[in-house]
Amino acid sequence: MNYKQLGNTKIKISEIGQGTWQYRGGVEPLRVGILLGATHVDTAEMYGTEETVGEAIRDEREQVFLATKVSPSHIHHDDLIKAAEASLRRLDTKILDLYMIHWPNPRIPIKESMSAMEELVRRGKIKHIGVSNFSVKELKDAQHALSREKIVSNQVEYNLQNREIEEELVPYCKKEKITIVAYSPLSRGNFTSDENGVLDRIAKKYDKTIAQVILNFLTREDHVVAIPKANRSEHVKENCGASGWRLSSEDIREIDESF
Ligand SMILES: NC(=O)c1ccc[n+]([C@@H]2O[C@H](COP(=O)([O-])OP(=O)(O)OC[C@H]3O[C@@H](n4cnc5c(N)ncnc54)[C@H](OP(=O)(O)O)[C@@H]3O)[C@@H](O)[C@H]2O)c1
Repeated sequence: MNYKQLGNTKIKISEIGQGTWQYRGGVEPLRVGILLGATHVDTAEMYGTEETVGEAIRDEREQVFLATKVSPSHIHHDDLIKAAEASLRRLDTKILDLYMIHWPNPRIPIKESMSAMEELVRRGKIKHIGVSNFSVKELKDAQHALSREKIVSNQVEYNLQNREIEEELVPYCKKEKITIVAYSPLSRGNFTSDENGVLDRIAKKYDKTIAQVILNFLTREDHVVAIPKANRSEHVKENCGASGWRLSSEDIREIDESF
């Protein structure tokens, strides 16, 4: 497993993490993933999976980079503090490695949410502040609203069917040292359309699967990691095998031109 620098920090997080939206696998697949190095575990108060994640990581808490999110309806100052405390309880932990705003909420001033985030850092409840589904403009506003901390990550959709972020967000985050966490990297399971057979051919060449080639392609830049979700341990193992090697620039170019 490759590990990549988180934002501008000294922390390293696994290039392949584990998502838990609609996760129904129980503790086992998550534990298998952690053993294989996929120690970045992603959840959200909205997912209803925090308790399972808490149970799965209990014995490996120090190894795990634990990330969760506050819902956009809870980002007034006091609501955000309460939401973080509730997530900490459900996850059965004292501190979150990363706490994110799940979606922007234009009805609530970002300054108010970010002051609550900084308070959580000050009180030792969270280590790092992140966002999710933020545009470049929203990211800039969020960063300006912080007085001491830096936004370390933006979690956004990124897969072969949706490469929209490559235009503006990917270069901006590279310049600003903000990690991009790619969600739905396997297109929610519908990733198999490979009409001209490019992925199949490349997968055979490396003795890898199409899913592994896709995840490797998406994480080809140093500031991008991915968090596939898998209920099945076999899928978790396969996804971990997407890291630890690199597609050649020629193969990257071919995939780039085909999708
Ligand atoms: N911030 C946000 O707004 C947001 C939005 C969406 C998602 N997310 C995060 O991103 C995570 C991943 O996204 P996602 O759950 O939407 O979709 P995804 O990871 O792209 O796809 C999950 C689907 O792919 C299947 N799968 C996983 N590994 C596979 C493999 N190696 N081969 C074949 N199929 C495989 C899974 O099957 P099985 O489950 O049967 O193994 C599941 O059906 C979420 O769990 C969540 O943590 C965040």
